[in-house]
Amino acid sequence: MEQLVIHGGAGSLEGKTTEAQIMHDSLCKVWEETFEVLQKRTAEDAVRYAVRMLEDDPVYNAGTGSKLQADGQIRMSAALMDGTNNRFSGVINVQNIQNPIEAAALLSGEKHSILSSAQATEFCRTKGIPEYNPETEFRLHEYKSNCAGIHGTVGAVALDKDGHIFAGTSTGGIGCEIPGRVSDTPTVAGTYASTKAGVSCTGIGEQITQQAAAAKVVTRVGDGMLLNEAVTKTMQESDDFNYLYGLISLDSEGHVEVGKTAALSDVFYVFHDGEKIRTFFE
Ligand code: GLY
Repeated sequence: MEQLVIHGGAGSLEGKTTEAQIMHDSLCKVWEETFEVLQKRTAEDAVRYAVRMLEDDPVYNAGTGSKLQADGQIRMSAALMDGTNNRFSGVINVQNIQNPIEAAALLSGEKHSILSSAQATEFCRTKGIPEYNPETEFRLHEYKSNCAGIHGTVGAVALDKDGHIFAGTSTGGIGCEIPGRVSDTPTVAGTYASTKAGVSCTGIGEQITQQAAAAKVVTRVGDGMLLNEAVTKTMQESDDFNYLYGLISLDSEGHVEVGKTAALSDVFYVFHDGEKIRTFFE
């Protein structure tokens, strides 16, 4: 049976009821449209569809509406992982494209499947991806006022009817970072999948990377641990360092787990538990 879980980042929306409602409605719409895609097509199609929709919504910090780095430039990162074929691909700090997840998907067919910076952007041009300015007035204002705001990395993990698991994540980073910083998103710490499980992370990239979070959860499930145990153990280990991040995950039987460290308020997620839609805004 198909399963799909998506996220629109992590943080606190306490006292921001309007923002929470907007994000909730957006995530539910993305989940519903994407689930239809998943029922007709593949896990890869579904993950790319969901992440594209989220990248195109300026509410999130990915694609259109990405945060600006310290030098005022937007550099985006995205990754896609095919759990069946053990194929990870991604772009790091790519510029001036609309959908970084599509660049990651294009790279999955290449011998060298992860590209960074100018060469990632150049690869997109050679593949016919047009120039696109992802900057929004809101993010420019946020940048000029010391980069406050919600992070809003996006991600999706899908299991299709043939049992294939894909995971995808896309981010504009943390805002005002040193130009060239590499987040967890385009690494196996932030995005990982196997035939047994898939994970997409959100939160402070350095901390997610230091915990090898996504790969660790997936490996634990591969070694026989239940998904909920794998997520709980990984979060507990991260709590030893007071880390701030969360993740969405699913396994080959369709179980979904949303995990977060104790210091994190919320992961902005949506999935269906078999009876009803479950969201962060309940
Ligand atoms: N997790 C996204 C970032 O740290 O850039």
